Amino acid sequence: MDKFLIRGPVRLEGEVPVSGAKNSALPALAACLLTREPVTLERIPRVRDIATMKSLLGTIGARVETDGGAVRVEAKEISQPEAPYQLVKTMRASSLVLGPLLARCGRARVSMPGGCAIGARPINLHTSGLELLGARVTQSHGYIEAEAPQGLRGAVVHFDRITVTGTEDLLMAATLARGETLLENAAREPEVKDLADLLGRMGARIEGAGASTIRIQGVDWLHGAEHTIIPDRIEAGTFLIAGAITGGDVLVTGCQPEHLQALIVKLRQGGAEVQQQGAAALRVRGARAPRSADMTTEEHPGFPTDLQAQYMALMTQAEGISIITETIFENRFMHALELTRMGANIRIEGRQAIVAGPRKLSGAQVIASDLRASASLVLAAMVAEGESTIDRVYHIDRGYERIEAKLAQVGANIQRTE
Ligand code: EPZ
Repeated sequence: MDKFLIRGPVRLEGEVPVSGAKNSALPALAACLLTREPVTLERIPRVRDIATMKSLLGTIGARVETDGGAVRVEAKEISQPEAPYQLVKTMRASSLVLGPLLARCGRARVSMPGGCAIGARPINLHTSGLELLGARVTQSHGYIEAEAPQGLRGAVVHFDRITVTGTEDLLMAATLARGETLLENAAREPEVKDLADLLGRMGARIEGAGASTIRIQGVDWLHGAEHTIIPDRIEAGTFLIAGAITGGDVLVTGCQPEHLQALIVKLRQGGAEVQQQGAAALRVRGARAPRSADMTTEEHPGFPTDLQAQYMALMTQAEGISIITETIFENRFMHALELTRMGANIRIEGRQAIVAGPRKLSGAQVIASDLRASASLVLAAMVAEGESTIDRVYHIDRGYERIEAKLAQVGANIQRTE
């Protein structure tokens, strides 16, 4: 099982490029099931979750060809409208095929994703939304079975709470439903807007994506298209925090600065200098003595929960007390326990983590528990004194393309070992 060997402290300096957004590529790949015609997606990141989604599309019956960062999907026939357990258990975002399969062939059988390290993560809002569109949804033997033999019909779907993939699942299903669908209290993440842009190119009629209410007029069929995925704002944010925590000078290129405003505000409050350079690059210069700044995660455009762990690592080096409140997931502080083993002073009280700094970290053996927690440990290991090993880095490979190569390029002392 791969490990990272990291020596610190280092100061990062130089330019690091951002890949396409994993959380935009996943729904975009699922959307290819909505048409018989080929869809070509550019800037698809080479990460494990994408590989899992491509094999899932293959088992469903689509032809999937990869050429570098481009993926071409042709779902001429749907031979098996099913997402099997052995794939879903490794990637819960497989539930994104539920809406497209139901809309395309009137039935879908998707394994219940089960919990994951950061929380229970049910998909009840996905299924109750699809029932409003006329699907009959039952559950047996750990699978969700959904049927809509007469097709889906438009409806008003008001989400009890904001759900990113729930919004995306319903958005895809509604494109082929008869009549108009309104999605209310929809997620406003940039990845939802990117999916709507792709669907629009395929002939869907969508208004309001990126806002809380999305209006969809169903059409009879969708055609093929070409689309370039937006840059990964979480990867970009991780590299900005890497520049800040090491007191470095890092230029993050190929990103969309407008997607990172909540983080930029916090980095500046903490004493870092952040400047936009052109339309697609951000330069961060870390403060010699970072200051503490409280932070609360919120749905977009608030501070992203997917950057909470990385921000906590930064706050271990900040002067003073910072209170980090996690409002999205019920169990997303596992990284705090590992950071404490490196010398951080963190106390967890329910949904809040109280971080007292600055604390000198020392290298240690730590274990990654989930994708973004792993990134947090990499950041901490780069400023810790001495050698750290991070075990179970397959978590980080799910969502970061060649992270050790990109960080080494700007001065990190990091190797992948068996
Ligand atoms: C997406 O997950 C992202 N994944 C997550 O990124 C991200 O952390 C999350 O949105 C929040 O921004 C992808 O886009 C593939 P939610 P998703 O549905 O859609 C509850 C990463 O690191 N909920 O917005 O699964 C849920 O339990 C990953 O790349 C229900 O109760 O998240 C959570 O508390 C981690 N019922 C809250 O809503 C439902 O039916 C938000 O979840 C659905 C969700």
